[in-house]
Amino acid sequence: MEEIRRPDDMARITTPELAEAFIAEQIKLIKEQVGDKKVLLALSGGVDSSVVAALLIKAIGDQLTCVHVNHGLLRKGEPEQVIEVFRNQMKANLIYVDATDRFLDKLAGVTDPEEKRKIIGGEFIEVFAEEARKLDGVEFLAQGTIWPDILESEAGIKAHHNAGGLPEDLKFELVEPVRILFKDEVRVVGVQLGLPEGMVYRQPFPGPGLGVRCPGAITRDRLEAVRESDAILREEFAKNGLSGKVWQYFTVVPDFRSTGITDGKRTFAWPCIIRAINTTDVMEVTVEHLEPQLIDHLVKRITTEVPGINRVLFDYTPKPPATVEYE
Ligand code: XMP
Repeated sequence: MEEIRRPDDMARITTPELAEAFIAEQIKLIKEQVGDKKVLLALSGGVDSSVVAALLIKAIGDQLTCVHVNHGLLRKGEPEQVIEVFRNQMKANLIYVDATDRFLDKLAGVTDPEEKRKIIGGEFIEVFAEEARKLDGVEFLAQGTIWPDILESEAGIKAHHNAGGLPEDLKFELVEPVRILFKDEVRVVGVQLGLPEGMVYRQPFPGPGLGVRCPGAITRDRLEAVRESDAILREEFAKNGLSGKVWQYFTVVPDFRSTGITDGKRTFAWPCIIRAINTTDVMEVTVEHLEPQLIDHLVKRITTEVPGINRVLFDYTPKPPATVEYE
């Protein structure tokens, strides 16, 4: 198949009208490519795969099967949102796999960050491949490849992409309907397709998920502390108008304890670190300085609502010298 490239003179998709024209064209192209065959998609709930899912549902309906793998490292409410939006609202063929135990069992006791990443990535492909083998007659694999992925892999900066890792017995032709779009265009198209703004304009989230925010060996209780504190941070950022303004914000719960006191009793519990940063290219980042009242409020909520936390810290370090994530 001839490689599809972004035309040099293509207008940036910034309006509903341009998005509508793109959607209409892609629906036609998808129908031509796929015919009456079946398509499979790994739907993470991230912007790119969600927009691809919405486009394909519009183009080919139940010829598409989406697989959502919950690796147990997703943010609070994310798997539920994927099910609500795609299965309940868009009537997609959605296979939901709760593989939490599988992932966490494999990760138990693993402290090395790269080893953790390798396990999460490898296990993800295995779970997805198992689901794919259960289905009959699938000939196509849809992917949320976008134009910067192509440019970066051509420049040798990063290898793209998801399909690369699938086992030999699973051979699919790729369907990549947003491959000529930049991220901002994917978002405009997503809104036009009726996806919730919270899904389309969400902050970047790493593939290994909360796993890299639970430094060292992941335990279920510390992972829950990351998930709960992250949910409180997101809720407070939304209430304070910071969600769309700050580029990325999250919490980290490191694996050490310190002494504290609650209701007159000694505690020995983890700290929760808040990270909030701004950037354009992620090579360099600056820190978003929060209002003292907001910090006070976050400290109060996190220490009272999240089991296992008795202290809240704020990370004032830009990149460099720190990276965004802790692992
Ligand atoms: P760092 O920590 O390298 O993060 O300064 C830069 C950006 O990349 C994200 N990140 C990842 N994304 N898989 C991903 O998909 C990963 O393993 C990974 N590690 C970091 C990070 O969230 C930030 O936006």
